[in-house]
Amino acid sequence: MKAILYSEYGPPDVLQLGEVPTPSLGDDEVLIRVRAAEATKADCELRAFKFSVKWFWLPLRLAVGVRRPRRKVLGGYFAGEIAAVGSAVKEFAPGDEVFGAAGLRMGAYAEYVALPSSYTIAAKPANMDFAAAAAVPLGGLNALHFMRLANIKRGDKVLINGAGGSIGAHAVQIAKAQGAEVTAVDSAIKEQFLRRVGADHFVDYEKESFTGAGVTYDVIFDMVPGSDYRACIDLLNAGGRYLCGNPRLAVMWRSMLTTRFTDRTATCAFARETVEELTALRDMIENGEISSIVDRVLPMHQAADAHRLVETEQRVGAVVIAIDDGDAGAGTA
Ligand SMILES: NC(=O)c1ccc[n+]([C@@H]2O[C@H](COP(=O)([O-])OP(=O)(O)OC[C@H]3O[C@@H](n4cnc5c(N)ncnc54)[C@H](OP(=O)(O)O)[C@@H]3O)[C@@H](O)[C@H]2O)c1
Repeated sequence: MKAILYSEYGPPDVLQLGEVPTPSLGDDEVLIRVRAAEATKADCELRAFKFSVKWFWLPLRLAVGVRRPRRKVLGGYFAGEIAAVGSAVKEFAPGDEVFGAAGLRMGAYAEYVALPSSYTIAAKPANMDFAAAAAVPLGGLNALHFMRLANIKRGDKVLINGAGGSIGAHAVQIAKAQGAEVTAVDSAIKEQFLRRVGADHFVDYEKESFTGAGVTYDVIFDMVPGSDYRACIDLLNAGGRYLCGNPRLAVMWRSMLTTRFTDRTATCAFARETVEELTALRDMIENGEISSIVDRVLPMHQAADAHRLVETEQRVGAVVIAIDDGDAGAGTA
């Protein structure tokens, strides 16, 4: 089968189109014919093995390969069709259209990926093509996890820092669906699209700091590593919640003190990415509460370009790689 391979850590050009054997299928696994995979910031970080938060460098390097990547095919989030099921699999059948997350197994940058049926895989939203569906799981699962932890009440003022990214753009939509008044913080090129998906207010972080505007919030969802923790906590109303998706060790420690000794809570969390959350997202999509925003769909041989666009943030929405025949969805949004 065709696959986008990488055999060393490095810049986007380490991604090369090649041929590998189609994965074999275990009794409890499904073989998915991948139609589209999102090129995510996480894929870029794993490819380069460079992360903005440093503390998990060593455990992750041990997990994915010390000298070179153990698994040669990246791709954590996908949409496609079930091609075959193992003898013990009851919940899926060949032909089912699905979307989901491949976890640390990755492998979605290939024509086929074999995954345990217990992984985070669910029926694809009926009203989305494969490209749009592939752009949901990373952003949607992480955003839903944090927005549920935020315990948003109708009328709450919610600020999302890094709102123009895969996770942030879904968080804006979910917070709006929960009745919040949403302030989105990102760079200027994202303003129009963030207002389109529901942001009530926009702050261009390159021009002004949201911490200096004198506005307070009930919830701050912060995806930007290295934010001013003290300033964020000071911006919270009584009972306010600070959620950090990209915590440094010091922030993890300080968040425990904030929650223990003040009337505000601070939570540093990692999303679990469950089937229940993916199913809830599908329902929200089919009900028209949220959608996915695809900037462009590139063919497999342009995988390095896809990574460059994501790394340099020259995009407004998701960059998706069409696997195999290139008809996963629209060309550009
Ligand atoms: N906790 C978890 O479970 C979890 C799970 C997955 C990912 N993550 C982490 O969460 C982060 C966000 O993920 P993602 O996939 O949404 O990333 P992404 O798509 O790259 O989005 C990040 C956004 O933040 C913007 N940004 C950069 N610097 C900023 C600043 N100082 N102020 C405001 N906005 C800024 C970026 O735009 P510009 O660069 O154009 O400014 C971009 O729009 C990643 O670092 C990832 O590693 C955490």
